Amino acid sequence: MAMEEKPLHIYEDLKGKVAFVTGAAGRIGLATSLALARSGVTVGMVDIKEEPLVEACQKVEAIGGRAIPLTADVTDAARMTACAQTLVETFESIDIVFANAGNNCKWRYIEDFEPGEWENTIRLNLMGAYHTISPAIPIMKEHGGGSVAVTSSINGTTYFGNKGASAYCAAKAGLVAMVKSLAVELAEHRIRVNSVCPGSIQSQQNWNRYMDDVREGKRERRKPHNPIPLTADSQPGTPEDVASLVCFLASNASKHMTGATITLDGAQSIS
Ligand SMILES: NC(=O)c1ccc[n+]([C@@H]2O[C@H](COP(=O)([O-])OP(=O)(O)OC[C@H]3O[C@@H](n4cnc5c(N)ncnc54)[C@H](O)[C@@H]3O)[C@@H](O)[C@H]2O)c1
Repeated sequence: MAMEEKPLHIYEDLKGKVAFVTGAAGRIGLATSLALARSGVTVGMVDIKEEPLVEACQKVEAIGGRAIPLTADVTDAARMTACAQTLVETFESIDIVFANAGNNCKWRYIEDFEPGEWENTIRLNLMGAYHTISPAIPIMKEHGGGSVAVTSSINGTTYFGNKGASAYCAAKAGLVAMVKSLAVELAEHRIRVNSVCPGSIQSQQNWNRYMDDVREGKRERRKPHNPIPLTADSQPGTPEDVASLVCFLASNASKHMTGATITLDGAQSIS
């Protein structure tokens, strides 16, 4: 069974819930939207890229799911508030938030950053999550609880071997601290907040293509920064691996978990 075809688990208690997912046109965001939809969750899918976002929504609908495209830049607080409002007006709730949009931005030695570049990394990866979570919280409070998952990274917790990544590491570490603080702040409202920290993630399809090229001598086998002890050939984790963790965190199966920092890296960061 290909990982992309089916989720590892269907969570019956997720049926009828509504999720607010950012970076939803990307690898992890789309895989998670699909996995949530398979458990019966309606997904408000946010991304800055309009066309890929519409295509991503169509993929969710193609498996029988319900999704709405919400084109937005997560660094724009007013627009993110408007998106949360649209979602709640259309589907009457927000029960799950996956603050996932982000990317490496510029990796440079500290003295080489152009003005604004360091801040832009923080604005996207850290403040973007704040703009995603904050408009959803009053709705979750009103509805008696919910689950928030945030995509941090091993680059914010256990692995600091990439030179030039100071802004990205600071943003991803900041997310972990924000999550812990919010877990305490929101516990009385039965809103759980957890961090997901992936190591290298790559789609199975891209990995297969890459390994075929290596076998046919079309390209050289890259030596991974850090080996991944759990997988053959140091194969990275897949977006579906992250999606399956986010579904678990959204479900009642994790009902006593909050403020957790969960590493998902096949032991990459500790080997
Ligand atoms: N892929 C990995 O190896 C890996 C490892 C650790 C952590 N992460 C984190 O996982 C998250 C998702 O990464 P991915 O691998 O799916 O990457 P991806 O590039 O496939 O997806 C990211 C998505 O975010 C969107 N996005 C970027 N800037 C945005 C903005 N300002 N507003 C709204 N949307 C925006 C992009 O358009 C894209 O669709 C990121 O936060 C990333 O830092 C990824």
